[in-house]
Amino acid sequence: METFQFHKLLKISIIIIFFLQISFSLSWDFFIPVDNYLVHCGSVENTVLNNRIFVSDSSGCGSNLWSAARTTSLKDENPLEGSSPLYHTARVFTKLSNYEFEIKEKGTHLVRLHFFPFDSSKFNLSDSLFHVSVNGVLFLSNFTGQEEENRNFRNPVLKEYLIWVESGHKLVLSFIPSKESSFAFVNAIEVISAPKDLIADTAQYVTSERVEKYNGLTKEALETIYRINIGGPKVTPFNDTLWRTWIPDDGFLKLVAASKAISFSGRIKYHAGGASREVAPDNVYSSARIMSYPNVSMPEFNVTWVFPVKSGYCYLVRMHFCDIASMALNELYFDIYINGYAVYKDFDISELSGQMLAAPYYADFVIDAHTAKELTISIGPSSLSSPERINAILNGRQIEATFFLRLNGCGADLRVHGQGAVCRDLYGCHNFQMELP
Ligand SMILES: *[C@@H]1O[C@H](CO)[C@@H](O)[C@H](O)[C@H]1NC(C)=O
Ligand SMILES: *[C@@H]1O[C@H](CO)[C@@H](O)[C@H](O)[C@H]1NC(C)=O
Ligand SMILES: *[C@@H]1O[C@H](CO)[C@@H](O)[C@H](O)[C@H]1NC(C)=O
Ligand SMILES: *[C@@H]1O[C@H](CO)[C@@H](O)[C@H](O)[C@H]1NC(C)=O
Ligand SMILES: *[C@@H]1O[C@H](CO)[C@@H](O)[C@H](O)[C@H]1NC(C)=O
Repeated sequence: METFQFHKLLKISIIIIFFLQISFSLSWDFFIPVDNYLVHCGSVENTVLNNRIFVSDSSGCGSNLWSAARTTSLKDENPLEGSSPLYHTARVFTKLSNYEFEIKEKGTHLVRLHFFPFDSSKFNLSDSLFHVSVNGVLFLSNFTGQEEENRNFRNPVLKEYLIWVESGHKLVLSFIPSKESSFAFVNAIEVISAPKDLIADTAQYVTSERVEKYNGLTKEALETIYRINIGGPKVTPFNDTLWRTWIPDDGFLKLVAASKAISFSGRIKYHAGGASREVAPDNVYSSARIMSYPNVSMPEFNVTWVFPVKSGYCYLVRMHFCDIASMALNELYFDIYINGYAVYKDFDISELSGQMLAAPYYADFVIDAHTAKELTISIGPSSLSSPERINAILNGRQIEATFFLRLNGCGADLRVHGQGAVCRDLYGCHNFQMELP
């Protein structure tokens, strides 16, 4: 019964969101996702954030859904001043519960989950412990709503995933309380269709011996781990074409003195064959980092970023390039290394960006970090470099992890784990298809 009412709720929500998005699109020329679900969980009213409407999951049309004692809407009685209203309410689940989203457009979908564990008289959300899966792929396990490393430091936590869904299918988001805590929660949910060109199907697969082709990337489930704006400031959802957040790279540089941040105020020349504005916005391409070392004319060193990662996964590393430093074409040559393996020799950005300056381009690499605890990315002078040539430049970098449970290799194995079986393996949860009794 409850499941049935849930469908009704979501359908009504779609209509609301749809009309509002249309009216916005008349005045702003930005990407409009076909599937666009924004849910403010546990709230009695809708919330507008960056011109997007997060629809209440409990007011009006939704009130029947949660009538069972199994879910509760919570309000923070003492919200942090200045914090986003999205984090002032939450939906709490004491039994496995699903949100189901009808998918109209086949393709990659972005799923963002917002968590902020606040205290309330009914639940101390810091005591939660739960698992989250999307269409049977387990994305979070034994999760507390906080990052592992700063549990005592209460901050909103944003988790972002990319998953392929066929049209006419559903995207099913499940919250599964663990036995130890018996409850799960979430503050807000975004499910939007990604632009067609966001995830290309092929990437370069980097091994110790060689770089080869990696196919089938669009069908992999991905989690965003780091999204970095190299040499630039934080880019907030307000300023991003897909409402993403890009953080500065300073904290990841191995040697800060080896490079210099630069910025560009001209027009970024998006062009066919390169990156689109949805792949990364102007703010990301208009800043970069160049190699520089005081009093050294011919740099004999690398600029290196170090990213801590969990071992046991494959990582997709996307590097964004846009030559905002050169005065002329074909002046910039460099080598690129990931975990010490050369992935590009004599990288000539002019050639790859259609013989234009300020034209964005990106390259995707898949690297198996089975045992590695970090990913290091280095750029250094190529043998074609000369002292007059400005050297390596890198605009932004996004690291996404493919997230599978039993991953033994990065090859064909990856795809097999895509759907369903994962969760059953783990918990033997026969009731995974979720029937609310
Ligand atoms: C809620 O839980 C956290 C972490 O266990 C604890 O630090 C905090 O004091 C608790 N709050 C209340 C009101 O008990
Ligand atoms: C959660 O943690 C418990 C206790 O450490 C462990 O037994 C269980 O396998 C974990 N579950 C998952 C899904 O990781
Ligand atoms: C958006 O970007 C502009 C220009 O880079 C900046 O001045 C502004 O503060 C940004 N706004 C937000 C909300 O991040
Ligand atoms: C660079 O050269 C200048 C002038 O010769 C000198 O004053 C400065 O200390 C040098 N810097 C470093 C880091 O060696
Ligand atoms: C840059 O790093 C790579 C990989 O670690 C190494 O092979 C290369 O020699 C380094 N280049 C310089 C100039 O130090």
